Amino acid sequence: MGENTFLRGPADWWRQAVVYQIYPRSFADLNGDGIGDFAGIIDRVPYLASLGIDAVWLSPFYPSELADGGYDVADYRNVDPRIGTLEEFDRMTEALHAHGIRIFVDIVPNHSSDQHEWFQAALKAGRGSAERDRYIFREGKGENGELPPSKLASHFGPEGWTRVEDGQWYMHLFAKEQPDFNWGNQEVRDDFLKTLKFWSDRGVDGYRVDVAHALIKDLADGHLPERDSYDLEVMKTDGTDDLFDRDEVHEVYKTWRQVFDQYDPPRVAVAEAWVHAHRRPAYASAEGLGQSFNFDLLVQPWNPKQFKKTITYNLAAAERSGSSTTWVLSNHDNIRHATKYGVAEGFDLYKWQHSKSKGNSLPQIDIQKGIDRARAAVMLELALPGSTYLYQGEELGLHEVFGIPADQMQDPQWFRSLGEKATRDGCRVPLPWTAEGSSFGFGPGGAHLPQPEWFAEYAVEVEEADEDSTLNLYRKALRLRKKLLDVEKYEWVRSWNRNVLHFKRPNGWHSITNFGDKPVKMPKGEVILTSTPLVDGMLPGNATAWFLAK
Ligand code: GLC
Ligand code: CA
Repeated sequence: MGENTFLRGPADWWRQAVVYQIYPRSFADLNGDGIGDFAGIIDRVPYLASLGIDAVWLSPFYPSELADGGYDVADYRNVDPRIGTLEEFDRMTEALHAHGIRIFVDIVPNHSSDQHEWFQAALKAGRGSAERDRYIFREGKGENGELPPSKLASHFGPEGWTRVEDGQWYMHLFAKEQPDFNWGNQEVRDDFLKTLKFWSDRGVDGYRVDVAHALIKDLADGHLPERDSYDLEVMKTDGTDDLFDRDEVHEVYKTWRQVFDQYDPPRVAVAEAWVHAHRRPAYASAEGLGQSFNFDLLVQPWNPKQFKKTITYNLAAAERSGSSTTWVLSNHDNIRHATKYGVAEGFDLYKWQHSKSKGNSLPQIDIQKGIDRARAAVMLELALPGSTYLYQGEELGLHEVFGIPADQMQDPQWFRSLGEKATRDGCRVPLPWTAEGSSFGFGPGGAHLPQPEWFAEYAVEVEEADEDSTLNLYRKALRLRKKLLDVEKYEWVRSWNRNVLHFKRPNGWHSITNFGDKPVKMPKGEVILTSTPLVDGMLPGNATAWFLAK
């Protein structure tokens, strides 16, 4: 257990790191119960090492009733017995470290599971108790308190308040099984510091902080937030919104930083904060979490103008804040980008997923185009300054799985919204490792979400054998990137074609992407990698090439 001596290294290792997100229940299942486990991850450490990543980030593996895929945590300092044990966690960490791979865990501070012992104690202790004060319990409105305390929708469903037996209500911004903590309560604050020490002592290198902007709410003098939409547009921009991104939240992260800095190297963190862009640097400050997700590529379609704007904005912002930016194309909450890039121009699949989509039929997806663009996009992002977060399966070029039967869906976003919002299960389907066999090699006992037949073509085993597969492209790109990495600077190189984005790093490493469908001329230089082979020396449509200036 404990100190990770192999990975001392420089304290700023995270600045341009490539972090691979594992959704533990869907990665690899060694004991055959259909649920991915630590033993499965340990078994695949050589695979992870073969990718050339710097770190893995594990989505929650804590004990959980799975009301929200594990983001409903029943015990922050333990492991879901279906996933493993603390002892296995240590073995996994050691195995990763032995291969030079660091580990991030997911911290979920806004809410716990309703199965958490504190919430259970709060239910028992009754109104006015110290136990209830760790959460947000209030009296209802109406003659008998039968109406919710305020008009508050939840992210997933109609109601942000749920009534308990004795008549009080508790607040939950997500599912009703995810009661929000009261961060005005010192015990809550202290307990999270304890959790951070617990995992840091076990050798955890970093933290991904879930809904980092929601902890502090305006509850002063009987005030209760009201909200019927979670669109970013309705969030105040100056730190005084009554639910999100309040300035006081940074006081919390200052105390977290003090814990991180007690370790060598200091532990690092990245905030999941869906806030207005100009508010992100505060989360990324060196006195706070240190880094904050920029999801700007993830939310946008394949469009050169938008990519350029996003890249320019975020790299300038990173330079101003002193942190480094993060590039993300996919994660466990969003439709896989190969699929997002396969729709017709003008159709925004991200918007489609997040809007009321009930009854909407699926758009036509051009599978190959989606993959070509996904390959081009990852080369583009890997050539940029900043760190990159990859999501398991994207290295296989996996598409979103649509058509999971309703009775097999697990995501509360779907069933709590009564089918209004699209499910997130389609990007959480267990990975295919082999073309045949039970659950495509995910495990010997089936998979907890149904895998489609077409998964066979994308199996690790199949792609390993194919020199030109997406998997081998990722491996080559990550390996080359390590060699080519340079100071965090870049410069746009002018192109006369509006479909082309071309930039270079100071050491002469160039990346050029053709967003259009027609081939374009390649500038002079030594080509070192392409996402699609050049044709007669021309860069095909939907492709990226890296080259060294001559
Ligand atoms: C974050 C997670 C998401 C989860 C939510 C509530 O957005 O990424 O999966 O549902 O927080 O914890
Ligand atoms: Ca298992």
